[in-house]
Amino acid sequence: MESAAALAENIQSFLAEQGEKSMLRFITCGSVDDGKSTLIGRLLYESKRIFDDQMKMLETDSKLYGTQGEKIDFALLVDGLQAEREQGITIDVAYRFFATDARRFIVADTPGHEQYTRNMATGASTASLAIILVDARKGMLTQTKRHSRIVSMMGIRHIVLAINKMDLLDYKPDAFHAIEAEYRQFAQAHCQFKTIQAIPVSALEGDYVVQASPRMPWYNGPSLLAYLEAIDVSSSLRDQPFRMSVQWVNRPNLDFRGFCGRIASGLLQPGDPVRILPSGKESRVREIIGGQGALAFAEAGHSVTLTLADELDISRGDLIVSAAQPAQVADQFEARLLWMSDTPLLPGRPYIVKLHHKEMTATVTGIKYLEDINTGAHLAAKTLHLNEIAVVNLSFSQPVAFEPYSVNQALGAFILIDKLSFETLGAGMIEFALRRASNIHWQALEINKRARALPKHQQPKCIWFTGLSGSGKSTIANLLEKRLHAEGKHTYILDGDNIRHGLNRDLGFTEADRVENIRRVAEVARLMVDAGLIVIVAFISPYQRERQLARELFEEGEFIEVFVDTPLEECERRDVKGLYAKARRGELKNFTGIDSDYEPPEAPDVHIANMNSTLDDCVSQVLDFLS
Ligand code: ADX
Repeated sequence: MESAAALAENIQSFLAEQGEKSMLRFITCGSVDDGKSTLIGRLLYESKRIFDDQMKMLETDSKLYGTQGEKIDFALLVDGLQAEREQGITIDVAYRFFATDARRFIVADTPGHEQYTRNMATGASTASLAIILVDARKGMLTQTKRHSRIVSMMGIRHIVLAINKMDLLDYKPDAFHAIEAEYRQFAQAHCQFKTIQAIPVSALEGDYVVQASPRMPWYNGPSLLAYLEAIDVSSSLRDQPFRMSVQWVNRPNLDFRGFCGRIASGLLQPGDPVRILPSGKESRVREIIGGQGALAFAEAGHSVTLTLADELDISRGDLIVSAAQPAQVADQFEARLLWMSDTPLLPGRPYIVKLHHKEMTATVTGIKYLEDINTGAHLAAKTLHLNEIAVVNLSFSQPVAFEPYSVNQALGAFILIDKLSFETLGAGMIEFALRRASNIHWQALEINKRARALPKHQQPKCIWFTGLSGSGKSTIANLLEKRLHAEGKHTYILDGDNIRHGLNRDLGFTEADRVENIRRVAEVARLMVDAGLIVIVAFISPYQRERQLARELFEEGEFIEVFVDTPLEECERRDVKGLYAKARRGELKNFTGIDSDYEPPEAPDVHIANMNSTLDDCVSQVLDFLS
């Protein structure tokens, strides 16, 4: 098989050769039973110019193997979701390239089954038109609605309703008209399409795929290919205010600083006043540099390097915008989120978020509702599973400049990535910013942490114990507090069993509830450290990501992780509360170590590993670390 590099080169030259023509990217939605492969096959075969080389390679489906045996996704070669490019995740989308005298085309073809929502969303993310295939005998199905909802959600505004297998209905018009009417009614209510063109076809016989057909004199519209060649899908990005996300800063020497990126919207000329977001600083464009040198102007879609009249501190992910019409900046959003992982979403868990070229931490602060993609119904949900779509509230760790996805896809689409495995977990679309964030200000207090700690003669700390139930956390924490107290220190213990009777009495032991349990106690511990106390936390805190989140709330050196590493067998043997026995009998679900995970710390500050050492020794280990 050809190497990935050779393939990429072939495609590049194909695109270059056809470069003067306009390009249409579209996605085909439907299943094999609807005749999808036949339709695509015929479209490609009968179009006037097919690039055989590419075809052969591309028809091996989406999975290719590079020279090193690595898996290559076609999306690497075209402009797919950022997820694929940067994370290398494999999604089953086959991209096919063809051209006619009128136009170049890229078709995204995805498997049509229900479980492939994320593939379809990926294919749709770069397409501007969708062909929704319907079997004329079966009419509109649940999947027809699902596909339509997904492509609408992904921002596609142009639909071809290809009503196939007309030959099996003797080319009679009744079913066609009924399906078209039903579809228009559905789309009106549930989708945001600008154009819908229904075309009666027979993929098998070829009627109205490429050529018009004498067998359906009652239809006087264009064939599928003729329609695809003619439709104008250009959006008005060029007419919107100027925006460009900085992809990287080019600084070859001290005299030159260029900001590189692709213009997301608008027009730009040298001399134009611009603002940098989120900082808000302003300057003027000095030069716009394209591939061939300085440009008199540039517009949406162009990749350029800008230089500015002033020396400003600008970094990757900053947005350069029209000074007169700047974009919004926010750190809390309502968004639509498609979950793409087998690991469920956990509200409160920190994830890496990538929004245009900005990368930071984000948590889902609430799931407003889950959307049943088949019926459009809104359902309550505590978590999200693979292929589920929900409207959520999101909180970012810093303010970021953005546009709602409906205004600009490039500036409103984001992905969520796991902090430990770097797996891409979800893809989302910003709907709007939540204003509450900008209405709540940090109160600057005059007495600060240092001032509060001073009369206590201590450095505030958070000593965080983690370990299995019955490992000895509370016992060690207790004696530690006694010792510190005897030294005149000001302390407080936050213990899982106690906090769960009050502040966290609404939480159980599911993964989601434990994440929230730890998030809350970490925030409380932070407040107590801010009050100048030495806080001792004794919670199982089974997950690495939330312990990491807790650590990040504190200053360097303030957070001390103590791993009480007592083996499960020993905890179970002790079984002080009788809970292990209950869990083994199946009377207690989600018990840590039995049927719920414990992720041991990889590099705890203090590791209490010897279960034979005395309680005094354990406490000394912590005290030694403190001094
Ligand atoms: S954590 O996992 O969310 O950090 P936390 O420390 O608050 O747990 O609470 C653990 C205590 O709750 C245990 O010491 C035990 O007494 C009690 N408990 C009750 N049910 C469970 C369970 N399913 N898993 C673990 N602990 C449980």
